[in-house]
Amino acid sequence: MTSYKELGLVNTTEMFAKAVKGGYAIPAYNFNNMEQMQAIIQACVETKSPVILQVSAGARKYANGTLLRNMAKGAVEYAKELGYEIPVVLHLDHGADFEICKECIDNGFSSVMIDGSHHPYDKNIELTRKVVDYAHKYGVTVEGELGVLAGIEDDVVAEKSTYTQPEEVIDFVSKTGVDSLAISIGTSHGANKFKPAQCTKNADGVLIPPPLRFDILEEIEKQLPGFPIVLHGSSSVPQDQVKIINENGGAIQDAVGIPESELRKAAKSAVCKINIDSDGRLAMTAAIRKHMAENPGHFDPRQYLAPARDSLKAIYSAKNVNVLGSANHA
Ligand code: G3H
Ligand code: 13P
Ligand code: ZN
Repeated sequence: MTSYKELGLVNTTEMFAKAVKGGYAIPAYNFNNMEQMQAIIQACVETKSPVILQVSAGARKYANGTLLRNMAKGAVEYAKELGYEIPVVLHLDHGADFEICKECIDNGFSSVMIDGSHHPYDKNIELTRKVVDYAHKYGVTVEGELGVLAGIEDDVVAEKSTYTQPEEVIDFVSKTGVDSLAISIGTSHGANKFKPAQCTKNADGVLIPPPLRFDILEEIEKQLPGFPIVLHGSSSVPQDQVKIINENGGAIQDAVGIPESELRKAAKSAVCKINIDSDGRLAMTAAIRKHMAENPGHFDPRQYLAPARDSLKAIYSAKNVNVLGSANHA
């Protein structure tokens, strides 16, 4: 058993309480490798932002749980070395069952998500309660989910989105004891969040997605005043990055994300954790494709990973300052 406290990490309790009160959201950035982790920490230290380092089941498979745990420990020390101590959470993203949550709790994670959203309501409650009971013994905080996002959630593929029903949230939160609740109000995972047919086009032919259901969010806030709410699938899918990818040999069609203006509005509400992965993938891919196209003779991974890391850092710094509002809250 390795407690997250031994690694210098914190759970989400204080972070979320401050974010809800302060009207901003904590960035939850996924990482799978060293360059992503470096970029996240550099961006969050530079902007003095608290951060949630997020690890999916796929990331654990790709990078190895032991290495990831030690990278998170390293991240805490790296932040201090960069000159500013920021609170760091290590969070399991989309835990599918009790076993993976337990394994993470036993191995240094300070927060886990149990994603029972695809199960029937009662089964979701039962599974989430089981994880909460175990996690809370060790001071680990738990995120549950009600409602299903469209798109791909790790092993779970949801064709259509099922919005969270506000009339269920009090019952779910009180019966499970979760510390935060992920909801579905129209966001979705990946770089193709909406089909072109669901969007309108602006004068330049850019796809404009349907608005998020802020009415549902407001109703949830009324039911659970001050309770920490989480938004998944919140990449904005910057069109300049998609363009760089496609101009340098890529083929990403009809990519569309959540407008930053909507995320800014959400961050000011009870939404206190915003999950972003795809934007980082796009930024790294764009930088690597561009570098490769311009430098056909390069074959040292550092030559193309360094600009990819810089681009990722710039994107995350801008999000902390301009979108989530988490800058200067560490
Ligand atoms: O919500 C899913 C995250 O973007 C993680 O994706 O399972 O491919 O690591 P992944
Ligand atoms: P994006 O695919 O929009 O980046 O969402 C990531 C996410 O929700 C991770 O849990
Ligand atoms: Zn997600």
